[in-house]
Amino acid sequence: MAPAEDFKRLAAARALEYVKDGMRLGLGTGSTARHFVDLLAEKVHGGLNVVGVPTSEQTLAQAVELGVPIATLDELGELDLCVDGADEIGPGLALVKGGGGALLREKIVARAAKEMIVIADDTKKVDVLGCFPLPIEVVDFGVKSIAHNLKQAIAAAGCAGELTMRRDADGHPFVTDQQHLILDAHLGAIPDPARLATAVAEVPGVVEHGLFIGMARRAILAGPSGVVVLEGDK
Ligand code: A5P
Repeated sequence: MAPAEDFKRLAAARALEYVKDGMRLGLGTGSTARHFVDLLAEKVHGGLNVVGVPTSEQTLAQAVELGVPIATLDELGELDLCVDGADEIGPGLALVKGGGGALLREKIVARAAKEMIVIADDTKKVDVLGCFPLPIEVVDFGVKSIAHNLKQAIAAAGCAGELTMRRDADGHPFVTDQQHLILDAHLGAIPDPARLATAVAEVPGVVEHGLFIGMARRAILAGPSGVVVLEGDK
């Protein structure tokens, strides 16, 4: 396994310490969350009683394959804990998410949980968000007009950069689990994430954006010097 994968798995393993019998869990998406679901499945086979709400079709398939009990968010209503990865973790545990395209379900599930724990290798921690392109999920109607308005909103929020349509491996527009498109905003730096989040959310046609502010309770980061647990404001 590449070292980064070892660190992701280490962070995922530490997150399992917060999982208690009977919990209703949000199951994140991405390579780090995949490790968490792997390890959770081992615990389930050892007798742990939990039920998970997957944040993507990809995670749903993994949970089913590994025998992790699943339910829909509507069946459970509230969740006890959501464990998910992130593309960037900034000050106050503000996050950029959606590199895997699952930001909409991820945000709905995280909001439904009493607590969100972010797991990552420690390269994801940054002083300023924005080096990783910010994913913005949009409807497919009038996408050029949406992009034009987004650019203006982004500039008004003090940021600048190109917007690109996310594409799949075949070069076709990437379509999310909710049948939307993703525009990635290459901003370099987001000096005021809350301001940008408000500005982007106000553009008609935007379904959701990848800024998760005030949502994570803690972040578990693993790297060459071990595991660090950062506490957020929530
Ligand atoms: C999925 O849409 C994302 O929000 C992921 O949580 C994020 O991209 C982190 O993925 P990795 O764990 O693969 O880095």
